[in-house]
Amino acid sequence: MSNQSYEDFISTVSHELRTPLTSIRGFTQTMLTSWDKLDDENKKKFLKIIEEQSNRLIALVENMLAVTKLQSAKDLMVFKETDISTTVNTVITLLKSKYPEKIFDIKIPSSIPTILADKDKFQQVMMNLIENAAKYSFENTTIEISASYSKKPEYIALNITDVGIKIEQDNYEKIFEKFSRIDNPLTRKAQGSGLGLYITKNIVEKMNGTISVCSEKIDTDKAKTTFTVEFPICNVETQAREKCKQ
Ligand SMILES: Nc1ncnc2c1ncn2[C@@H]1O[C@H](COP(=O)(O)OP(=O)(O)OP(=O)(O)O)[C@@H](O)[C@H]1O
Ligand SMILES: [Mg+2]
Repeated sequence: MSNQSYEDFISTVSHELRTPLTSIRGFTQTMLTSWDKLDDENKKKFLKIIEEQSNRLIALVENMLAVTKLQSAKDLMVFKETDISTTVNTVITLLKSKYPEKIFDIKIPSSIPTILADKDKFQQVMMNLIENAAKYSFENTTIEISASYSKKPEYIALNITDVGIKIEQDNYEKIFEKFSRIDNPLTRKAQGSGLGLYITKNIVEKMNGTISVCSEKIDTDKAKTTFTVEFPICNVETQAREKCKQ
C-alpha cells in the first residue's frame, strides 16, 4: 500500500470506529447520570442501541482483519474438493434466524459437480453475497441461489438473486472497492462498512474464480440484482495444477 492510500485507509477506519464508539459512550453516560429518571422501557431501548453498535464494531474489526490478511503472504489457500450444496445450506441455516422474513430458494441440482476451492474462504464468499442479498432487498421477498454449468468450460456458475433497488451500471465496479456503499433507503437501513464485496472479490480471484453483478429493472422502483461467481470444477487436472502451485 502506498503512503497516501495507507493514510486514507487509517483515516476512514478511524472515522468508522469513532461513530459507533461515540454512540456507545453517549448512551452509557446517559444511563449512568439519569438512571433513576429512566423507566425500564427506555433503559432497554438504550441497551439495545449499545448492543447494536457493539455488534457493528465487531463486524468492522473482523472485516478489517480480513482486509489485512488479504495482503499477507501467510494467508495461504487450502484447495480441497468442495460441495456447493453443503456450504450453501450451512450459510442459510446461519442467516435464517437473522432474516426470518426472507425466503431462501435453493436451486442446486444434485448432479452438479464439486468445485476446487478453499472451504472456509468459499463459505465466507457465500456468506457475504447471501447476506448482502438479504440486507439489500425488500421485506418478504425471495432470495434465489442457483448453480449451473458456466459458459466457460470446466467452470460452475453460482447466481445469487434478490429483489431490491437497482444498482446502476456506473456502480458495477465501484461496489467492489474498499469502503464503498451506494446511498439509497435500503443501504441506509442496513449496517455495513463497505468492505464485504472488496474482500469477496479478492478471495474469489485467489481461488481462480470470477465475480460479476447485473441489476435489471422489473418495476418502476424494483430491480432484480444478480451476483454471479464462477469456480473451477474439481477434476484430476485442476487438483494437480493447484498441487503444483503449492
Ligand atoms: N444484493 C445487493 N443489492 C443491492 N445493492 C447491493 C447488493 N449487495 C451490495 N450492494 C451495495 O453495495 C454496497 C457494498 O457492499 P459490501 O458488501 O461491500 O458492503 P456492506 O454490505 O455495506 O458492508 P459489509 O459487507 O462490509 O458489512 C452496499 O452498501 C450496497 O449499497
Ligand atoms: Mg456486505
